[in-house]
Amino acid sequence: MNIKITVSTNDLLSAEGDVLVLLLDDNLRYAPNKRNPLTKEGMKWLQDAKDKKVWDYTFASSTSDFKGNAGKFKFVGFMPLRLGFFQDADDQVRTAAAKVVDFARKHHFDSIAFFLKSRSGYKIIDKVVEGVTLGAYEYTEFKDSIYPIKTMKVQLLVPADGVREAERIAHERQAVCNAANGARDIVNRPGSSLVPEGIAAHAAKIAKKHGMEFTLLRKDDLKKGNHVGLLNVGAGSAHPPVMFAMNYRGARRKRVDLALVGKGISFDTGGISLKPWSQMWEMKGDMAGSAAVIHTMEAIATLGLKQNVVGIIPSAENRPDAKAYLPGDIISYKNGVSVEVHSTDAEGRLVLADGLLWAQDKFKATTIVDVATLTGACLRALGLNYTGLMANDDKLAAKLTKCGASVGEKLWPLPLPVEYEELLLSPVAKIKNVGGSYAGASTAGLFLQRFVGEGVSWAHLDIAGTSDCDKKQRYFLVPGATGAMVRTLTDFIGRM
Ligand code: BES
Ligand code: ZN
Ligand code: ZN
Repeated sequence: MNIKITVSTNDLLSAEGDVLVLLLDDNLRYAPNKRNPLTKEGMKWLQDAKDKKVWDYTFASSTSDFKGNAGKFKFVGFMPLRLGFFQDADDQVRTAAAKVVDFARKHHFDSIAFFLKSRSGYKIIDKVVEGVTLGAYEYTEFKDSIYPIKTMKVQLLVPADGVREAERIAHERQAVCNAANGARDIVNRPGSSLVPEGIAAHAAKIAKKHGMEFTLLRKDDLKKGNHVGLLNVGAGSAHPPVMFAMNYRGARRKRVDLALVGKGISFDTGGISLKPWSQMWEMKGDMAGSAAVIHTMEAIATLGLKQNVVGIIPSAENRPDAKAYLPGDIISYKNGVSVEVHSTDAEGRLVLADGLLWAQDKFKATTIVDVATLTGACLRALGLNYTGLMANDDKLAAKLTKCGASVGEKLWPLPLPVEYEELLLSPVAKIKNVGGSYAGASTAGLFLQRFVGEGVSWAHLDIAGTSDCDKKQRYFLVPGATGAMVRTLTDFIGRM
């Protein structure tokens, strides 16, 4: 379903559509507006609604519940602000907006108007747009939409002096959320339908569309460049590993302002250290870091942001086979770090190491953010709503956290303790790829830090918990991929 957003200054009587949504303010009041002819009626509806406790449901009541004149609308609903005991206020608005879309499509309504003329209404335009765009997402590559509506018209009714600003916000938030939905599509795609070369082809198309330079390293190039992590992890697969770069140049200066590195394991069976069968299918999403990076590149190009950003994806399929790499193998990287493989299932860090080195050697990046579904430990520690954040630069970490918070993606710091470095020591190589049973997210972070040179600002985002949801939650109204970090990274680049 497409969402078509328009901004208008219509008031309640001149606006038209199927569903009208009125906002309730912090005190459960419909913020009154003297010039609004429905105010009196509105207050009455509100009292009714209050008596009937409609806010037990975010959006559930029908016109017959209201004695007032609903103008030209078939349905009026109230969207409460700040009522959730289990949800923060911004998230609640996104969720409510998503549920309005859900309500409308289930009732075959195809136009919604959000009445945002009050001050609190105007402040939440961005969240409403995020909620409707992300909430409308369905994965339809293998199954048609169950809703007959192709396009949902969404009107934002704003004050006359707010049209320009509202249009700008709506356009921007929708572009970013569409990009996030693009990321969801490729994360949801089955492992056999999206192999490393497929991820590269998908990214190449986006790069071409936006005039970005695209560099692809195939297996032979990887050998020449000594990208040993990818060669080992991908050795057991019929689909060869690749590494590619999307180079976006929004500024005239030569230097690269930021490198994004995304884990692109098209499927993670665990390799010879095979995962148990249960939930293994979810590992089709082990390329969510790459999806976040690829679609952040798309978003910043669409918005025309004025930064130079390179997106780097090391991609492989991790499978057992006669040619697969083995536990006990030692991999020697070109920065002098040798790694003893204790589990072939700790493959993400092995390929990210190649990505981090390439970002520094080839693109001279001095600020790097990597994104990866890296550890089950992070998922267990932080759950589904918090992305694990590890960094060697507090300022970078603080900025990312702030940007995340402003778009509804929560980042939570995990430490990179020097005293845990010894957990990675190996008797036969400089380090091993597993740090033991404790602090798994941090030891993975410490592993990556070995591939970050002196003077380089670096942050690592572990999205093992946040990239997917197993059932509908918040404004993700379908289980599956969430498009995690596209919004945060785009916002971060916009504010660099
Ligand atoms: N892709 C997994 C991490 C993961 C687990 C992501 C669950 C999403 C949900 C990663 O490659 C992995 O298998 N990590 C191992 C590392 C361990 C062997 C040190 C893990 O977390 O168990
Ligand atoms: Zn793994
Ligand atoms: Zn993995």
